[in-house]
Amino acid sequence: MRMYDLIMKKRNGGALSKEEIDFMVEGYTKGDIPDYQMSAMMMAVYFVGMNAEETLHLTMAMAQSGDMLDLSGIQGIKVDKHSTGGVGDKTSLALAPMTAACGVKIAKMSGRGLGHTGGTIDKLESFEGFSTAISTETFIRNVNDIGIAIMGQTKELAPADKLLYALRDVTATVDNMSLIASSIMSKKLAAGADAIVLDVKTGSGAFMKQEKDAFGLAKEMVQIGKNAGRNTIAVVSDMDQPLGRAVGNALEVKEAIETLKGKGPEDFTELCLTLGSLMLCLAGCARTQEEGREMLKKSIADGSALDKLAEFVKAQGGNEKMVYDTSLLPAARIVEPLPAPKEGYIEKLVCDEVGICSLILGGGRETKESAIDLSVGIVLEKKVGDYVKKGDVLAVLHANDREKLKEASNRLLLAYQIGEKETKEGPVIVGIVK
Ligand code: URA
Repeated sequence: MRMYDLIMKKRNGGALSKEEIDFMVEGYTKGDIPDYQMSAMMMAVYFVGMNAEETLHLTMAMAQSGDMLDLSGIQGIKVDKHSTGGVGDKTSLALAPMTAACGVKIAKMSGRGLGHTGGTIDKLESFEGFSTAISTETFIRNVNDIGIAIMGQTKELAPADKLLYALRDVTATVDNMSLIASSIMSKKLAAGADAIVLDVKTGSGAFMKQEKDAFGLAKEMVQIGKNAGRNTIAVVSDMDQPLGRAVGNALEVKEAIETLKGKGPEDFTELCLTLGSLMLCLAGCARTQEEGREMLKKSIADGSALDKLAEFVKAQGGNEKMVYDTSLLPAARIVEPLPAPKEGYIEKLVCDEVGICSLILGGGRETKESAIDLSVGIVLEKKVGDYVKKGDVLAVLHANDREKLKEASNRLLLAYQIGEKETKEGPVIVGIVK
């Protein structure tokens, strides 16, 4: 078999067979197929597309390119959750303890943030001493003992995807539905869960700006999951403005804790209840979504979800006192309000711009190696649909550097579009794909 012939076949509109896809993925992972040939293939796929069968074969080939985590040592149905990423997306921080408190086994692999979106691991490191660099044995033991463990993605997990994603990133071939779906699902399948709940974001701060594309991606991923024998459901949710009010690592941890106390923002709480109730159903802990929602609400009301977070933080070396006293979390030196420049309705809040402002303050990574400041970020006091008078506080910026604060404030002001048009905030749940 020759890579040249496969590139030509795809370029001319053909469908690749399982053997051809296996040859290509294996050859590229081993270094036998050079970047320039794989780049040409990715561009051909970008223009021609892949059918459902090809997408499944690509997913399986990438999943099997490294270790497939064996979670059979954990009793019960293991459910994983994945978000396609967004600004202020601290969902796992609240959702994992809520669902674990209701009996779901949470064995999760998470990533760090890159660019304007944050990663769960960075956020969790706001807890002093917390580590996701745990062995597979500790991971499995913790899930069996307390129902929850989160570890960092190992190098051995879907290495073909890692190589391909880095190549796509620099060859303008990221935003193809089959390539995104296979990339995400290869990691989820390799991570070993029995069932998967996907949170596919749509809107200005998401990969998929248009609703129809988000539903397309959701359907493609659900189909891959089912074909691979994993019960999979996707929720399409809004990312046209940041989720909740806090953007920035420790600030988001604080908001997740507030949510576990029943005092979280409405949109964020609703997303957690929707995703959580689906997870409870897939895990066999609830018969219906309604029953699942009630169980989750009870875990908040009786404090068991908050206690589960503390148990989890402690089990992974973190200071669990911070769960009960959020004033111990990293805090920025400068806390400054941003006043509204005029009266009117918030017609739009450009989502990725808010993420970039947090990045400017030092809350995200410019490169994979950059250190991040866990304490900085933004708390949005006003969101889409709110009416403001001149001088009302739009947002509060948390900073450690005056220069960065100035740059972020100027930019955040431009992210708020204030006008006379009465605007309604859209629902956080856009749809569910089963
Ligand atoms: N996230 C991934 O893991 N892969 C993609 O291709 C896009 C987003």
